Amino acid sequence: MHFTLADLVTDITQNGAESGASLVELTVSEIRGTGGEFRFTVRDNGKGMDAAELKRAVDPFVTDGIKHPRRKVGLGLPFLIQTAEQSGGGWDIKSEKGKGTTVNAWFDPANVDMPPVGDVPGMFRSILMFQGPQEIRITRSRRGEGGENSYELSKTEISEALGGLDNTGSLVLLDKYLRSLEEDE
Ligand SMILES: Nc1ncnc2c1ncn2[C@@H]1O[C@H](COP(=O)(O)OP(=O)(O)OP(=O)(O)O)[C@@H](O)[C@H]1O
Ligand SMILES: [Mg+2]
Repeated sequence: MHFTLADLVTDITQNGAESGASLVELTVSEIRGTGGEFRFTVRDNGKGMDAAELKRAVDPFVTDGIKHPRRKVGLGLPFLIQTAEQSGGGWDIKSEKGKGTTVNAWFDPANVDMPPVGDVPGMFRSILMFQGPQEIRITRSRRGEGGENSYELSKTEISEALGGLDNTGSLVLLDKYLRSLEEDE
C-alpha cells in the first residue's frame, strides 16, 4: 500500500473545501497503545447532499461528472469507506442539503491492514492552503503512554500572523511551525 491516512484526510477535507463552505473544521485525534484509535472528522457548512446524492457519493462507481468529465468512478468517499472497513475501523457520514456535511471515520492502529498515518504536519500545511473556505479550523490531539498533546490551528490566524500564505517565506515558516507542534509530546 502506498497511500497514507494523511492522504485520505486531505482528500476528504478537500471535498469540504470544494463544497462552497465558508467554514471547514477538521479534527484529527490519535490514541496510541492497546485499544488505540486514529479518528478524524471533517465538518463543512457547504452545499450538502440529499439522501440520493449521498447514496451516489458513497457508491464507488459514480462521480458527479463535472470535475473529472472523462472519469466514471469517484475515489474520495468510496475509497475512505473501503479502507476503514477493511482495516477494522468504521465511518459515518451525515449531510443535509443546503446546510453542510460531516464525515467521520476511525481506524484501528493495531490492525495490520491500517495504512500508515503519514506526514501529519505536511497534511495540515496542504489543508490550510486550500482556497475557498474563509476559515479552516484544525484540532489535533494525541494521547499515549508518553502523555497528551493537543493544539488548534486557524487558517485566518496563521495567515494573518505570517502576512499571507502566498509566498515562499511564509510557507517555510508555516512548515517549521507545524513540525514543531508535532514534535513536543
Ligand atoms: N463535503 C461535501 N459536500 C458536498 N458534496 C460532497 C461532499 N463530499 C463529496 N460530495 C459529493 O460527492 C461527490 C463525490 O466525491 P468524491 O470525493 O468521491 O469525488 P470528487 O470530489 O468528485 O473527485 P475527486 O475527489 O476524486 O477529485 C462529489 O463530486 C460531490 O458531489
Ligand atoms: Mg473529492
